[in-house]
Amino acid sequence: MEITVTVNGQPYTRSVEPRLLLVHFLRDELGLTGTHWGCDTSNCGACVVLMDGAPVKSCTVLAVMADRHDIRTVEGLETSHGLDAVQEGFRAEHGLQCGFCTPGMMLTSRWLLDHNPTPSEDEIREALSGQLCRCTGYENIVRSVRWAAEHEAAATAVSDAIPEQGGPTPAHQNRSGSEVQT
Ligand code: FES
Ligand code: FES
Repeated sequence: MEITVTVNGQPYTRSVEPRLLLVHFLRDELGLTGTHWGCDTSNCGACVVLMDGAPVKSCTVLAVMADRHDIRTVEGLETSHGLDAVQEGFRAEHGLQCGFCTPGMMLTSRWLLDHNPTPSEDEIREALSGQLCRCTGYENIVRSVRWAAEHEAAATAVSDAIPEQGGPTPAHQNRSGSEVQT
């Protein structure tokens, strides 16, 4: 079957077998090996990607089910503005050891912060409860997500505080921008 899947903003058209899993489509057809395959039982969550913005275990989705849908993988987290805050958080708080679970953890974390910018520790743990980490004990992963949430909130507060062009003029200047004698 011929399918077209948009991955990290780029459409890919491929002819695939109907039984091909999305995780194998991403890894073997597109070479996006950041999506990991860690079990045969749909338990580990290492394969999580975002499908139309929602986390899915790509080992439970057929590639043909992703036809004409948007997929975001860990390779799509970084933008031209730099690393995503979640990536920065995992780096700052040592949210990984071997890194095998990390792509899925980060994508679910991204989804969580997009829907709940200030999650509690319990909410973070619940969001990540479908994913296993065999190294970290989860403490640093939770800290990483909290780091990302706090830094995104701080960045939003700063950008909200900067007046837009054409916005209110500071009290000590006139509209032309020259100093006003007071
Ligand atoms: S590979 Fe383990 S849940 Fe998908
Ligand atoms: S960092 Fe090794 S499994 Fe999570």
